Amino acid sequence: MKKAVVITGASSGIGAATAIHFGKNGYFVYLMGRNKDRLAEVAAKCRSGASLMSCDLTDLPALNKRISEITSTTIHKVEVLVNNAGIFDVHSTEEGTDELWQKEFDVNLMSAVRLTRAFFPYFKKHGGGSIVNVSSSLGLKPTAATSAYSAIKAAMINYTQSNALEGGPFNIRANCVAPGIVDTPIHPFNSLDEAKKQEAIAQMNPMQPLGRIGSAEEIAKAIYFLGSPDSSWTTGAILPIDGGITIS
Ligand SMILES: NC(=O)c1ccc[n+]([C@@H]2O[C@H](COP(=O)([O-])OP(=O)(O)OC[C@H]3O[C@@H](n4cnc5c(N)ncnc54)[C@H](OP(=O)(O)O)[C@@H]3O)[C@@H](O)[C@H]2O)c1
Repeated sequence: MKKAVVITGASSGIGAATAIHFGKNGYFVYLMGRNKDRLAEVAAKCRSGASLMSCDLTDLPALNKRISEITSTTIHKVEVLVNNAGIFDVHSTEEGTDELWQKEFDVNLMSAVRLTRAFFPYFKKHGGGSIVNVSSSLGLKPTAATSAYSAIKAAMINYTQSNALEGGPFNIRANCVAPGIVDTPIHPFNSLDEAKKQEAIAQMNPMQPLGRIGSAEEIAKAIYFLGSPDSSWTTGAILPIDGGITIS
């Protein structure tokens, strides 16, 4: 059976770059996301084949249908699950309504919980597997006006380590990346015109010890390292990839 990876949020940014990187390294890629056109564009760049698994991760019947389609395949062996999908909402503590919290909780954490719960028995049956969760530098060090996002990304870190402890005896590894500021559509600066976007980035660059914000490809390489056998003796690790912003 050909090796495969499941990636959520594969239609854009970090997830798309990760899909392409795994494809370059011989993995068939199951691409999850809502936007079918963007998933198809990413699939065309995945060198070792890809399947479009479009669904809203908060739509449980649709998610469960996709999970059973993937776990019942006999053509591929899923070796890696990348829980990457996410949304980023900036609001003050007072503006943080239950609805805003619930939405971030469902997309950013519960989608990973549901997929991990489904893939644990699959990995046990197939002799192991590797889970990579995408947290954030804000999960390690929050800022003002990101309380829901930061708290939920911190929960992702703790959840990863719990799964690493539980999965160890079954050769299931669980690790986490904690990206800093990465140039992807998740940031409002990406909706600005090019000149204003460059102005916003120029203001952010000096906040990083390495003097610049990151690219999706830089995160993809780290996710690949943690997902693939290159990191075969690593589990429960939280890897900041952040230009040094977390220690500044
Ligand atoms: N960029 C950064 O600076 C940064 C920093 C730290 C952590 N992160 C984390 O990195 C991850 C990827 O973010 P990104 O920067 O690459 O942002 P992005 O380009 O906006 O990508 C977000 C992805 O999540 C998917 N998604 C969102 N809601 C969904 C839902 N309800 N159902 C299914 N898929 C959904 C989107 O797919 P559709 O639109 O097709 O549904 C998209 O593919 C997120 O977890 C984010 O929190 C990003």
